[in-house]
Amino acid sequence: MSREKTRLKMKLKPRDANPENREEASTTARGGQFLPRGKKTFGPAGKISRPIPRDEDEMADEETGVTRRNARGRESDDLDPSDESFQRRMETRDEKNARFTGGPVLPEVDFPASWTWFFDECLPAWVKDHYSPKESWKGKPFTSEDGKFFLKGIRDLSDLFTDDRPKQLPDYLAHGKYRSSYMLYFLPLQGAKFIALFNQHSKAVDAAVAHGLETGTMRIMDLGAGPATASIALLLNLLARKGELPPKIEFVLFDQNSAILKDGESLLRKIGESFPKMRGRVTVRLQVGDLWQTVLREKNDVSLALFGHTLNEYLPMRDGRPDPKPFSHIFSLLKFGGGILWAEPAAKMPSQMLSQLRDYLFEEGLIEETPHRIWGPCLHSGRCPMAVGRDWCHFSIAGKIPGKWFGFFSKGLSKEKEWLKYSYLWITSERDLNSSPIAPNLRLVLTDPLSRDPRAKKEVLLCEPEIPLRYTFSPTEFLRRGMKILLKNR
Ligand SMILES: C[S@@+](CC[C@H](N)C(=O)[O-])C[C@H]1O[C@@H](n2cnc3c(N)ncnc32)[C@H](O)[C@@H]1O
Repeated sequence: MSREKTRLKMKLKPRDANPENREEASTTARGGQFLPRGKKTFGPAGKISRPIPRDEDEMADEETGVTRRNARGRESDDLDPSDESFQRRMETRDEKNARFTGGPVLPEVDFPASWTWFFDECLPAWVKDHYSPKESWKGKPFTSEDGKFFLKGIRDLSDLFTDDRPKQLPDYLAHGKYRSSYMLYFLPLQGAKFIALFNQHSKAVDAAVAHGLETGTMRIMDLGAGPATASIALLLNLLARKGELPPKIEFVLFDQNSAILKDGESLLRKIGESFPKMRGRVTVRLQVGDLWQTVLREKNDVSLALFGHTLNEYLPMRDGRPDPKPFSHIFSLLKFGGGILWAEPAAKMPSQMLSQLRDYLFEEGLIEETPHRIWGPCLHSGRCPMAVGRDWCHFSIAGKIPGKWFGFFSKGLSKEKEWLKYSYLWITSERDLNSSPIAPNLRLVLTDPLSRDPRAKKEVLLCEPEIPLRYTFSPTEFLRRGMKILLKNR
């Protein structure tokens, strides 16, 4: 490894071995940066200018990733991100950006036909059967009266996420009220991100399926599975897939909370039994406990590993750095197949943790230093320029998440979403690399235009190792976050 490792002096405390103290230890791990790096100026080439002001008085909304900045930043410092009108203004800002730059860039999400069946019929009826407080409610269709009843819990859970993260998030899934709320609202919200990523990186899913066809079992590890969000999204994606499916599709669900795992298992089985295409193929196995320990028990090879919104909650540390053992074990099970996908909220803290984890995996030698070990989003294997500092790597896709009940609950929360927002990292397996050619002058656009003023110089940040490139483009050009461009004169 050519890079010096001294950069990996992490601020986070080592993980406490005593499970009773885990909440405290995990609290320490949340919100920290484990690759402290100093202020930077923009990199050399192109039309580059001044340093970006860094890290002062910033807050990011958990779901939207909107940031409050102080008077020296771009946003005014009297804004309160927990204020709904502020959030609406920020959403509108994104919409305006899209309009004056010409429209969205990442393709709309192609939701499988079974999405609406699952989220409008199957899931609400299942939740009503299992979580209604009165026996007489069970076995009947989910109505708007049920919607109003469950909305109360969804509001409370949404408040809990907004108020308590990242410091003191209790074991919310221990309560039935929160499990049902998570399934009715957060499962489709987070599941939609996985659908978007499976669409965007279909070759990675192809590699996972090919592994399953070759070995006879497509084995998926869902780490921090909750109600099997990522696995359900994958199963719905596989249902819509043309071509042969592996004879066995095994989901291994890991979570510390056994009740939510059982819910996830039941939902996966229900989907498996509801479609002739899946009948007899789907099996589910549960691993209850701390996933960073239980994963070490796995011995069989794996086609795909999925982490959904877990980094945000807990990352195991040893001597102030992530413990490499569980990661190297997972990679050893993933010689072929689709690799490891992490999906996280679009907010700054989880996104930067993900960027730092990415740098760590390269710098620790857990993966070879080539961009072909990455399905997305990065086009290089140098250090992530967004791992610290004011900006962070995240993506947004215009469009609504389908489903009448998701619409109902979103409206009830006053959080009707026109954008799907997320951050992610998808590492390939060791031998099924991303073979897409990467031209030396190809760059990922990291931001929307930096100014909203249509008269201002048009600038975006482009992804380059260490320091983002501030790039000026012509008024006739259209650039938006998530696009890829070929730089001239490179
Ligand atoms: C926000 S939920 C995400 C659930 C699901 N992956 C999703 O994307 O919707 C985080 C889940 O991670 C689980 N979790 C967090 N830390 C864990 C750990 N160390 N071991 C096992 N499960 C963990 C929690 O119990 C919870 O179910």
